[in-house]
Order: sequence, then structure tokens, then C-alpha cells
Amino acid sequence: MFIPKEVEIVEVGPRDGLQNESLPISTDAKKTLIAQLAKAGFSRMETTSFVHPKWVPQMADSEEISSYCNDLGITSIALTPNLKALERAIAAKVPQVAVFIGASTKFNQKNINKTTSESLDECVPMFERAKKEGIFIRAYISMAFKCPFQGDVSLEEVKYVCDGFVELGADEIDVGDTNGKADPKLVYERFSRLRDLYPDTTFVGHFHDTENMALANVVAAMQAGITKFDSSVGGLGGCPYSPGATGNLSTEDLLNMVKRMGCQTEVDYAELIKITPFAKSLSSKL
Ligand code: HMG
Ligand code: MG
Repeated sequence: MFIPKEVEIVEVGPRDGLQNESLPISTDAKKTLIAQLAKAGFSRMETTSFVHPKWVPQMADSEEISSYCNDLGITSIALTPNLKALERAIAAKVPQVAVFIGASTKFNQKNINKTTSESLDECVPMFERAKKEGIFIRAYISMAFKCPFQGDVSLEEVKYVCDGFVELGADEIDVGDTNGKADPKLVYERFSRLRDLYPDTTFVGHFHDTENMALANVVAAMQAGITKFDSSVGGLGGCPYSPGATGNLSTEDLLNMVKRMGCQTEVDYAELIKITPFAKSLSSKL
């Protein structure tokens, strides 16, 4: 069995965890969560999204959150769904941004009102602009395994987006099981093929836990050589445009497992579990 010496866990709770909460969460509460996560050892996390507040009202305070993260000295990643979002992120001095495109066209139309190829076209000026500013680009391939609107997602569809991102110069490519319907066999096969096809690319595994297979999917991805994973404190989350998707893989479960397997991480488990009750108190679903 392949056990990586070191695993990077990217905490995505403040963004992917909270974006789906219907009741408003105060900016102060978000700052407290981020500060506690930083204290537990996370030096890099997804903290907010520069989406139009009309689409995701919970992320309306992205400017203030980003400035807070800079003051705190952590590397924050902000989701930027379009060029306007990227301009806002640049103005807020965000060091890393995340763009996303679904592997399934049906999902893209529901999520960002565009086809896969139109989404890739829109990414061209965004990558150019971000690179000019020296901003690190995380590129998500969402619905990279299954899709709530079309069922199976083929390797060809994933490759189509991946080719585009690699050509544009993504710094890392995050492969998302957005609706949490992947299983370990599919995850192992998909990541193995992607690693064969793109040997120079850094891939990240992003699993939602809809069918309680997220941890098994991490182990399967590890067997294909993946050592970076996203997770969300308290298992917060869901995707507003992915019906039926539940929370992200919980950071507590992921950290506990990888530590037990002997992998090194930068995060302190004892500090992390102190945060769980507060994180869960922010959610109306947990
Ligand atoms: P649109 O309405 O088609 O945009 O939205 P538009 O370009 O037509 O603009 C309409 C108006 O909004 C304009 O204003 C723009 O200026 C303004 P007007 O001229 O009418 O006054 N506008 C903005 N204002 C502020 N900030 C902005 C912005 N953009 C436009 N950023 C858009 C297109 C992509 C913006 C929209 O469809 C959208 O944001 N959708 C939501 C996407 C989203 O956040 N989805 C959830 C995240 S994805 C996810 O969770 C999956 C992930 O976790 C990975 C995984 O799990 O696999 C990442
Ligand atoms: Mg997600």
C-alpha cells in the first residue's frame, strides 16, 4: 500500500463549507473560524468567494475577509467565478485564486450559465490577468466523476477541461467529486489515468461525503499518487448548484486518518477538534 510521507490538507470550510448556508453568518464569526483554523496550523485555506452576492449572498463580505486573512498572515485562496470576480480579488490583494469548470456541460449551464467550452474561453483572459499579477491559480474540475444532471462523467470530458487548464498554466488542478457520488474504484482509475496523462501536473482530491465514501476515496486517490486533499472543518458544506450534495469530507476525519497512517501534516489534531463545536454551530444543517 502506498502511504505518502507528507499530506497537504487544504481547509475549504470558510468558503465551500459556508457558501451553502442559507442563514446569514456574521463576518466576525467567519473571522473567528479562520483565526482558529490558522491557530490549528493551516497556513493555506480557501476563505471566500468573489461571486456576485445575488448568486451566493453568504459570500458578500469577501473583501473584508480577504483583508483579514492578509493581516493574519495566512495564504488565502478565493474562488473567482469570472473576470469581474478576479478583478475584485486582485484589488483585495488575494494571493491565490480558484477557478472552476464542470466536466459536464449540463452542470456548467446550471452553475455558471455557460457551456464547458465557453467556460474555458472565459478562463483565457482570467489566467493572463492572474499570471500578470503573480497570483497562484488553483483550477477546479468540478463534477469530475458523476453529475446530478447527466449521471456518469467520462474521462474524455475530464480530459477536455484538464487539457485547457494545463495549456493555460494552472498551478494545481483540483479534481472535484462535487456531488459526493464517486467510489474508490472510480477514483483510483481516474486519478491513475490523469497522472499518466499529465505527469508534470499537481493534482488535488476534493471529495464530498454524500455516500460516506470520502475517506475511502482519499485512500484510493493516494494509491494513484495523490498527496493533496481538500476538506472542511466539521464536514460543513454542500454546493448550491448541486442538488443532493452534502458536506465536504470532514477535516477532523481526514486528519485523524492520515495521522494514524503515519503521514505528516502541518495541522495539530488536538487544536482542530477544539474548533469543531463552533464550526458546526455556524451551520443550520449540522
Ligand atoms: P451572470 O449573472 O451571468 O453574470 O453570472 P454577468 O456577467 O451576466 O453579469 C451580471 C451582473 O452581475 C453585471 O452587473 C455584472 O457586473 C455583475 P450589471 O451590469 O447588471 O449591473 N457581476 C458581478 N458583480 C460582482 N461580483 C462578480 C460579478 N459577476 C458579475 N463576481 C456568474 C455569471 C458566473 C457570475 C454566476 O453564474 C455565478 O457566480 N454563479 C455562481 C457560481 C458559484 O459560486 N457556484 C458555487 C461554487 S462552485 C463549487 O462549489 C464547486 C467546488 O467546490 C468544487 C467541487 O466541489 O467540485 C469549487
Ligand atoms: Mg466543493
